[in-house]
Amino acid sequence: MNGEPLRLGAFGVGRMGQVHLEHLIALHQRGEIELVAMGDRFGPTLSSAAGLLNELGGPDLARIARFDDPDAMAATARLNGVIVASRTEDHARDSLAFIRLGVPVLVEKPIANTIAEAAEFCGRVAECPNRLVQVGFQRHFDAAALVALDWLSSGRIGTLQQSHHVLQDKNPTPVGYQSCGITADMAIHLVFEAMSVRGFELPCAVQALRFNAPHYDDRAGEGANVVHTFCTWADGTVAHLWGSRINSAGYDNGFKLIGTKGRIDVGEFVGDFGAITARLWSGFGDQRGRQIDEAQFPMTRPSARHPDFYARYAAAYAAEISAFIDGLRRNAPFDLGPDLGWKTLLVANLAEASSRSGGRRFDLTQTDGSTIATAADAAAYVGAVSSQV
Ligand SMILES: NC(=O)c1ccc[n+]([C@@H]2O[C@H](COP(=O)([O-])OP(=O)(O)OC[C@H]3O[C@@H](n4cnc5c(N)ncnc54)[C@H](O)[C@@H]3O)[C@@H](O)[C@H]2O)c1
Repeated sequence: MNGEPLRLGAFGVGRMGQVHLEHLIALHQRGEIELVAMGDRFGPTLSSAAGLLNELGGPDLARIARFDDPDAMAATARLNGVIVASRTEDHARDSLAFIRLGVPVLVEKPIANTIAEAAEFCGRVAECPNRLVQVGFQRHFDAAALVALDWLSSGRIGTLQQSHHVLQDKNPTPVGYQSCGITADMAIHLVFEAMSVRGFELPCAVQALRFNAPHYDDRAGEGANVVHTFCTWADGTVAHLWGSRINSAGYDNGFKLIGTKGRIDVGEFVGDFGAITARLWSGFGDQRGRQIDEAQFPMTRPSARHPDFYARYAAAYAAEISAFIDGLRRNAPFDLGPDLGWKTLLVANLAEASSRSGGRRFDLTQTDGSTIATAADAAAYVGAVSSQV
């Protein structure tokens, strides 16, 4: 790219899009990129994002090109890359507006509402001139999770047997938020986490139960605010994923990995701010349960305009954008490509369907006994097992 700063933009600048925009503004101010355009099809959101540009970026950035249509933005903004954080139902079409013109995209999770949409998206991406797509799972760039993965892969807890993953929102979803179901919208992060400690292999079975606990304002019409999902893998390991939208004690997340020789604990929080810890326990006999290692990472101080999840994950969101930019500079495939998008969505949507049918178990093999290897296989599988997924 001739040493010129990359020209970046953002389409979909609501709650999550403005977190990304803030990081893009900081990169622009450091001269690492040029933030040249932003867009949103909902006028009030675009105005609010313009206010953020004015507040943080000053008059220079407040004047960048604005669009209410992704096709127009893709055609005229001369972008080297774009972050798409529109509504989940718009991710595929908004991303394709850019990808079809060769502009790489960092698209928020989940990549689509349904597996059929995800399969269509993956098929279209494969036909486009530049196939670079990064899916926004910030946990991949989280320092505490990376330490845990390192301890696991270096055998410090022996062989993995089970894992437990928690994500509890402090507040209900915002007004106007579009959700494809509690599992696919939020517990998909837990699906990602559980798959990340198993080499991103698909589980062989998925089942879930959902509940609607009282004193909750279900603004997104999800019909449930607590979901428990169980996944098992071909090696026999088990994951329990606990997602909820109700936790008055603060935004909480964490995971435990239990192996034949020890245990790793990451996160789990009370309150709004504190250290993020990763702890490693091991030992046998009278040495059992000794803590043998620990790492600590700071949260990022939020302000009133930041969403609940900002303090815990702001550094990881910044790191995911840096990885995107690095991939753009090298014109290299991203770690988290569209394959991971459909795989996580498949598991999350099966869990959603299972939870809506009293815990039905889905075994992830095709009707002819073969494994699910592509997004098209996943769509065929879902078509065969259920009309609700
Ligand atoms: N990676 C993460 O941790 C994380 C966190 C939150 C959201 N997300 C994802 O980011 C995407 C955007 O989520 P968000 O929290 O920014 O949602 P949001 O509702 O704030 O904004 C998303 C889009 O919806 C539009 N919108 C909002 N209200 C609208 C209305 N009343 N009518 C029409 N359009 C409206 C906004 O303009 C914006 O384009 C989603 O796909 C979500 O799953 C990811």
